[in-house]
Amino acid sequence: ATDLTGRHFLKELDFSAAEFRQLIELAAELKAARRAGTEVRRLTGRSIALIFEKTSTRTRCAFEVAAAEQGATTTYLDPAGSQIGHKESAKDTARVLGRMFHAVQYRGSAQQTVEELADHAGVPVYNGLTDDWHPTQMLADVLTMTEHHPGPLEEISFAYLGDARFNMGNSYLVTGALLGMDVRIVAPERYWPAAEVVAEARRLAAVSGARITLTEDVTEGVGGADFVATDVWVSMGEPAQVWEERIVDLAPYAVTMDVLRATGNPDVKFLHCLPAFHDLGTALGREIHERFGLESLEVTDEVFESEHSVVFDEAENRLHTIKAVLVATLG
Ligand code: CP
Ligand code: NVA
Repeated sequence: ATDLTGRHFLKELDFSAAEFRQLIELAAELKAARRAGTEVRRLTGRSIALIFEKTSTRTRCAFEVAAAEQGATTTYLDPAGSQIGHKESAKDTARVLGRMFHAVQYRGSAQQTVEELADHAGVPVYNGLTDDWHPTQMLADVLTMTEHHPGPLEEISFAYLGDARFNMGNSYLVTGALLGMDVRIVAPERYWPAAEVVAEARRLAAVSGARITLTEDVTEGVGGADFVATDVWVSMGEPAQVWEERIVDLAPYAVTMDVLRATGNPDVKFLHCLPAFHDLGTALGREIHERFGLESLEVTDEVFESEHSVVFDEAENRLHTIKAVLVATLG
């Protein structure tokens, strides 16, 4: 195994395919040890700063619980409560936090901010979501895929439906390309990842043997898929005015039972990084229902609650995979 001590995790491609697999294996080991009650603390005395310029449930909790279970402490800096981004630059923040902490997690909009933190912190920096990438989420998704589809990653096919220009679409494309998987991006063309991201994925695929498909056709895109994934249609930080257009454009790409049937795979599994808009159980859901009359958006409640759905395994795996990143880079 490669020594990953001191490494940043700002985007998926900060790790080679072998290193990415190594993190998945470590996460699986840590998960098994936790279940068996044999987890060994490897981060005693370490401290991690958690900067959140956007809100979070899973990512924050995964970092906090992972650190605590490994003997490390965390300090949560919320979207309003620190000087970051208002009175103090990323560069200065990095130099301060780097004197106090052994690592820094950042969630916010600009990829450039997390890169600046990494340039100046002198300690490992982790991207807990930017507009461009969601790398810790990819570890959880790949772990979840291996659990539900044991065997070589190269034999796994997955289709991502929805807005693929943002973090989740970009991350799925490059991660699948890196690991040699069969990746399908299924969306209207103007929602496909940027040309540079697609070009990078094609370069990676030439090495890994990945199959890459970008298509507007749902039936073609999901045919034979082992996993169907989606994400919210409007991401954090986007203006409210985009809802109307987004709903019209992406409605044909909602994950319904018909979409799952179109895979032709009775064992197909459904993935979603969450939060998901699948019922009227949220304030946002009720607002959208009032404005547009819809009861769900990117996924129907029927799919979300079905035996196909593995979204809570995926959410739990955020803990084990983030723990693996901490142990590998700080242990
Ligand atoms: N999937 C994910 O990153 O969830 P949170 O926004 O709750 O952290
Ligand atoms: N695309 C979503 C992912 C949330 C985990 C967002 O950026 O809001």
